[in-house]
Amino acid sequence: MRIDPETVERIKQTAAVADVIGDYVTIKKKGANYWACCPFHGEKTPSFSISPAKGIYKCFGCGKAGDSVRFIMDMEGLGYGEALRHLAKKYGIDIQEEEMTDDQLVRQNERESLLIILEYAKEYFKKQLYDTDEGKSIALPYFKERGFSDATLQSFDLGYSPEAWDAFLKAALKQGFSQEIIEKAGLVTQKNDDGKVYDRFRNRVIFPIHNVSGKIIAFGARILRNDAKNQAKYLNSPETEVYHKSATLYGISQAKNEIRTKDVCYLVEGYTDVISLHQAGIKNVVASSGTSLTIEQIKLIGRFTQHVTVLYDGDSAGIKAALRGMDLILEEGLQVNLVVFPEGNDPDSFVRKIGSEAFIEYIKKEAKDVISFQANLFKEEAGDDPFKKAEMIKEMVQSISKIPDAIQRSLFIQKTAAMMRMDEDVLLAELNKIQLKKIKGASSDPQQISAQQYAEVRDLIEPVGVDQPLEVQNLAYYQELECVRLMINYGHLEINSEKAPGLTVVHYLIDELEGTVFQTPLFIRILDLCKMEFAAKRAPQADFFLHHTDEEIQSFSINISSDKHSVSSEWKDKHEIRVNTDEEMLEDLAYKNVLRLRKVYNDQHLQETLSHLQSLQADAPEMGEVFNEFIRLKEIQKNISQELGTVIEK
Ligand code: CTP
Ligand code: MN
Repeated sequence: MRIDPETVERIKQTAAVADVIGDYVTIKKKGANYWACCPFHGEKTPSFSISPAKGIYKCFGCGKAGDSVRFIMDMEGLGYGEALRHLAKKYGIDIQEEEMTDDQLVRQNERESLLIILEYAKEYFKKQLYDTDEGKSIALPYFKERGFSDATLQSFDLGYSPEAWDAFLKAALKQGFSQEIIEKAGLVTQKNDDGKVYDRFRNRVIFPIHNVSGKIIAFGARILRNDAKNQAKYLNSPETEVYHKSATLYGISQAKNEIRTKDVCYLVEGYTDVISLHQAGIKNVVASSGTSLTIEQIKLIGRFTQHVTVLYDGDSAGIKAALRGMDLILEEGLQVNLVVFPEGNDPDSFVRKIGSEAFIEYIKKEAKDVISFQANLFKEEAGDDPFKKAEMIKEMVQSISKIPDAIQRSLFIQKTAAMMRMDEDVLLAELNKIQLKKIKGASSDPQQISAQQYAEVRDLIEPVGVDQPLEVQNLAYYQELECVRLMINYGHLEINSEKAPGLTVVHYLIDELEGTVFQTPLFIRILDLCKMEFAAKRAPQADFFLHHTDEEIQSFSINISSDKHSVSSEWKDKHEIRVNTDEEMLEDLAYKNVLRLRKVYNDQHLQETLSHLQSLQADAPEMGEVFNEFIRLKEIQKNISQELGTVIEK
């Protein structure tokens, strides 16, 4: 549901960045700014700076940057709207929701009703556990026997559902809940076709499932006796308007802070694994609850850390599940390690057996990255059989191919080569084959391939000759960067108030760049934003970008708006980029930037034409045409260079 823009503005203005952050970390004032130890990465000396004047923060250690809304999103793992609501609540601001359509209204009301009845159900199940004879004589002893302390029972809201067929249904109806909403919450189930419904959970201990902000969205329920015949060990809520199993991780609300500070998330299979580890003081742990891991679950972890350690049973089913999950995690760009436990142990039983210190030691010692793990596994399985060995190496390379980062990929290839005593080139060839297949398979949908992915395998598809030297590509990047830097920081200023009163920097640049397409996706988006703002008769101000809702744009803008921006001085010297910018020099900066952009693009074009020329036979029919084009581009290059007052080599 959209919050109206005025309210958004009010929330942003009220939620002073230092005040918001001060709730989470100790902040100290130094001059105009505040400093703190960064809550996003472990550090002992503060490199996290807060600028109250700009309403933004930036960590010089890990690079995290944003405004108060972004901070809440990252700290609490919330979406943009949720973060705004969170702040509105803190500062007592009433949210004027924009008028909803009837359909939206129904869904919104239904979601709220569901959350209310699920909360009621949780309290009901707790009451059954603590205040009834049945609970006290059957369920509490069960939990005690499993070693769960009172504090643990409370922090996971554990409960009990009595044996009777319709005890909950009756209680909820009496409380005034409609039968419809009780059904929609998945709390009852139909047994026959007669339309009669009964309590879904009976005679089971109850594990409420919380969403990331701590609301109850579903339940898991376990039988009390392992030998009960014909009964599933666990029953779970069905999918509902508020419960999407594939996007849920058990324990995330209790674990999120610890995951962030420890900067690693332990992933286990079961409810009881989460609870036992938590009780043992290992709180950065969540469970996929018995289903295979999904992309949505990995993205949820990714809001808090980029490191996952999978803790799975040592049996072969457990290992297979773990390996599948790890490939998916790699694909999401997170780093993943795996720990397996001695056969017959799960994290729950193992931590109770050896205690938390030994458990942590065990994890440290046994954690293996996916490649080392597979290598060990395969050595055992394949022995000396060369066919098996080849098959397994292929599987390892397959895993490596999932890693989005090229540098990490090549490090893993090196490692595999060393471990399997293989030639690195053979593995690289195999990797390239897989990458190529991916690109070709995806090429019907160009959206799926990033420019970077394409660049990495381009020489496999096209003749190498047309490749531009890296230098030229990077130059385009840095000139585009300089251009958006000017627009973000000075877009609204007059370029020369005497000679051209009223002509803003953004106006000038947009006119000059008419027909030019940037090569860097982020800069294309920023330029489009500038154009949109300009078309709406607003000259974009730095604030517009510093508080932009798109994380990439926001963080980039903060980085280039701070005094020392990210272009390294080596680059500056080498490639004619002016950075000691001065508002008085805007005209000069903007004019030269436009020239340099043209020069870079022209140089690229020139390179391509030269390669084309070199690839032609002397008597090729298009020879004359290509050669003329080459001369034309050369001429342009000379003119721009003269204008820039620089001499070019070659
Ligand atoms: N699970 C399920 N339905 C089942 C069995 C398992 O939903 N019939 C899910 C539960 O989330 C469970 C997880 O899969 O926690 C792992 O299953 P398992 O290892 O069998 O359970 P444990 O968590 O070890 O439970 P316990 O220690 O109580 O046996
Ligand atoms: Mn178990």
